Amino acid sequence: PSRDALIARLPKAELHLHIEGSLEPELLFALAQRNGVSIPFASVEAVRAAYSFSNLQDFLDIYYQGMSVLQTEQDFYDLTWAYLERAATDTVRHVEIFFDPQGHTERGLAFETVLDGIERALRDGEVKLGISYRLIMCFLRHLSEDAAFATLDQAMPHIDRIHGVGLDSSEVGHPPSKFQKVFAKARELGLHVTAHAGEEGPPEYVHEALDLLQVERIDHGNRALEDAALVRRIADEGLTLTVCPLSNLRLCVIKDIGQSPVRKMLDLGLKATVNSDDPAYFGGYINDNFRAIADALDLSEAEIVKLAENSFTGSFLPMADQIQHL
Ligand code: ADE
Ligand code: ZN
Repeated sequence: PSRDALIARLPKAELHLHIEGSLEPELLFALAQRNGVSIPFASVEAVRAAYSFSNLQDFLDIYYQGMSVLQTEQDFYDLTWAYLERAATDTVRHVEIFFDPQGHTERGLAFETVLDGIERALRDGEVKLGISYRLIMCFLRHLSEDAAFATLDQAMPHIDRIHGVGLDSSEVGHPPSKFQKVFAKARELGLHVTAHAGEEGPPEYVHEALDLLQVERIDHGNRALEDAALVRRIADEGLTLTVCPLSNLRLCVIKDIGQSPVRKMLDLGLKATVNSDDPAYFGGYINDNFRAIADALDLSEAEIVKLAENSFTGSFLPMADQIQHL
């Protein structure tokens, strides 16, 4: 239908994408062989079959295990380049990519191995695919704030190559307040700040992300809808929410795709965007996410265009660059 054609050709930005979550089973297998890393799967099909999750933690266990095949700078390049080529086919023009340095430094890799490989692919993507980028370093919230500070210290010699910080991993039991000091430091350094909040955690965590971390965006934000005062605040401040429909479905945050919060957010005048989160694990890239909700939420063409526009105006690009894409 014409909606699919519109989605296919609309320029868009992806604002919520964990680069390690774009590791497709085929590349996972190839890297395991290349690096002599053993993985507990006999085939690509067996890997895909294991991607059945009943909550966020279920997924995270498999996601951190999958990272073990990433060993060299070239591995991070190949991972990132594969994502960018795929994103280009979805007419993505700008990406703001999350990476999880602690998932790698905890395994003994150098921070630089990770950063250099990802960034080299991003630079190639800018030249060869015309996709601009920002790079967002996430702190793993199941680890301590001291560990986050240690990661920020490792990043310091390269801080001009990192545009923002985020907060991800197991949400419940690890509220934003745990990371108040390290986010204050990041802001002092002039970094952009965002955080996963309200994916599984309560509205209170979204309040904390805003009040204590002073985030510029909310990643997911589903459960913010439970709190009317919070909804009003998000609307008044024009904050962007990076919603991930297929992720929500596969992690059982919603029961069916028709329950995606995008419908309510649009109706409430909130600035929602559509993103793929961890596409290799959740069965779809950005256009797959758009198509899934376009049908289920019966989005109008104007609403689809609005979601794509929100992705640029909600990005960390300077205003002049945002406007170029509208
Ligand atoms: N890390 C990768 N994807 C994530 C998600 N959806 N929520 C929290 N942490 C993550
Ligand atoms: Zn995420």
